[in-house]
Amino acid sequence: MKFLICIALLAVLLPTTSYGEDKPNHEQHGNSPGVEALTHDLRDLLSEEMQALESGMMSIIPAYNSGNWGEIESTAKKMNNSYIMKQNLTESQIKELHAVLPPAFIERDQRFHYLAGMLEHAAKNKKPELINFYFSEMNESCVSCHTAFATHRFPALLSKEKKEGHTH
Ligand code: HEC
Repeated sequence: MKFLICIALLAVLLPTTSYGEDKPNHEQHGNSPGVEALTHDLRDLLSEEMQALESGMMSIIPAYNSGNWGEIESTAKKMNNSYIMKQNLTESQIKELHAVLPPAFIERDQRFHYLAGMLEHAAKNKKPELINFYFSEMNESCVSCHTAFATHRFPALLSKEKKEGHTH
């Protein structure tokens, strides 16, 4: 009887074990697993959006320093709305994005959205400390997503991580 139970247990456990071994292949970390697999159209769109984000971020500095909250509000709104996941993409492009980009990328994208929305809100309420806070959180979110998914484009972010492990 005991033997039979053992076999039954094995039959249940074995597939679970092999499934567990497969798992790391699905949860890719590190070097841009998805972005480079995007079709040209989508990748160009992503690149355009990134450049728009960069000029948006840069324009916020003089606006902040001169108390131009209205400009920050409208820039933050544009950054929020123009980001790739919110573009007028076709249904098949949306499917492609979700199929190619790992969930961690989409989470970072959503986090970025949230921060841009908060920046817009802080600017609307004319709160300099909060504007500064969310601006800096957004800056951090650029670097953190690039470190995880764009070291092919920004190799300095990769070596920085490695060096940090060796210094001190
Ligand atoms: C959700 C992830 C993510 C976030 C958030 C993000 N980026 Fe990027 N960015 C990428 C990826 C991935 C690439 C590389 C794209 C490629 O290789 O086609 C990139 C590339 C870029 C590029 C180079 C574009 C080019 O092709 O010339 C710039 C500039 C850039 N990002 C600016 C920013 C700025 C500024 C922010 C924050 C305000 C930001 N990004 C936030 C993922 C992100």
